[in-house]
Amino acid sequence: MIVIKIISVIGTRPQFIKYAIISKELRKNNQEILVHTGQHYNYEMSKLFFNQLQIPKPDYNLGVGSGLYGAQIGRMLVELDKIFLKEKPDAVLLYGDTNSTLAGAMASRRFKILIGHIEAGLRSFDRTMPEEINRVITDHISNFLFAPTKTAVNNLKNEGITKKVFLVGDVMCDILRQNMKIAEKSHILKNLNIQPKKYFLTTIHRISNTENVLNLSNILKALSSIDKKIVFPLHPRTERFIKKYDLSKKIGKNVCMIKPVGYFDFVWLEKNAKKILTDSGGIQKEAYLLNVPCITLRENTEWIETIKDGWNILVGAHKEKIVDAIENFKPSGKQSAHFGNGSAAKKIVNILDKYTVI
Ligand code: UD1
Ligand code: UDP
Repeated sequence: MIVIKIISVIGTRPQFIKYAIISKELRKNNQEILVHTGQHYNYEMSKLFFNQLQIPKPDYNLGVGSGLYGAQIGRMLVELDKIFLKEKPDAVLLYGDTNSTLAGAMASRRFKILIGHIEAGLRSFDRTMPEEINRVITDHISNFLFAPTKTAVNNLKNEGITKKVFLVGDVMCDILRQNMKIAEKSHILKNLNIQPKKYFLTTIHRISNTENVLNLSNILKALSSIDKKIVFPLHPRTERFIKKYDLSKKIGKNVCMIKPVGYFDFVWLEKNAKKILTDSGGIQKEAYLLNVPCITLRENTEWIETIKDGWNILVGAHKEKIVDAIENFKPSGKQSAHFGNGSAAKKIVNILDKYTVI
């Protein structure tokens, strides 16, 4: 068997989670080098996931930290150039749509290294989102496009991308299935003194809901205006903007703000929530997979199947719509296996093994 050398580039919380499952498969037969860009760096946004999900220690940590779009990507590129030149991998694996994804794609192209893109073909059709720009560019310069859903395959087709597009399913579905038993042992409900199905779970971190004072305060007002317990693990971006806009005094006593929690605790919080309110991509999908109604605090979504099936509703940052959905939204349809059968990681690694050996 010929061993291929692959570099994975990751840098943010959802990428650590996706990577955990890929890495286990990849390292069975291949040589893998892990690059952590350092885009996320707080303990509870990074190291916690490495510890819990037994992710190997990165071979390189670029330590780029936070910054404006161009500066952050620029710092990543400077370091990735050096690593790719030194390591000369057969392929680079990229995950999702973050700035770390785009930097990985740009650096790989420069050295004509094959690119595999996991979560290819997702579109919100909203080009004000940096994520949309990151994924469109990455898809258009990738060699292997690992699409999570049929919708993603069609989106790529509509942009003229049909070669080496593989419908593999969703890696987050794989990891969720594999870790449910561990999540069930979580003590988070007891620690927070909450009962199953007696609370709502919220996360916010999109630029449109944080850097926009009106949207952020509308969401906080909606959450605070109801007589129901809301558990709210606070993304550091959101924490920063609540402080900046001086909004904490407007947050009601029913809203329990906590630090971001680890994967197992979070999945258990999701599973036991009455409903989930979020602007996260991954969490909309997990809500669907866990049979929990989802209220999406955005005007659009990449996970359109969850809406079509009636388990997710788009309410943007409109106070009345949010409150109405909290009170009245009820899932109406049946769910299907849109996100695969839990074997996405295996399929991805098999495809890489088959095609990267020339
Ligand atoms: C990034 C991704 C987004 C993804 C999200 C997952 C981009 C453009 N965005 O958004 O697609 O959904 O990660 O969570 O790549 N911060 C800290 N400590 C940290 C990380 C962030 O304090 O460990 C704060 C900083 O103030 C920083 C802000 O959060 O400026 C935003 O971080 P950044 O990585 O730029 O974007 P995210 O909002 O996390
Ligand atoms: N998550 C977590 N702890 C938290 C919040 C989220 O472990 O406090 C997990 C969640 O289960 C999901 C992923 O992080 O798997 C989603 O990441 P995020 O919302 O940051 O990014 P997105 O999916 O929007 O890119």
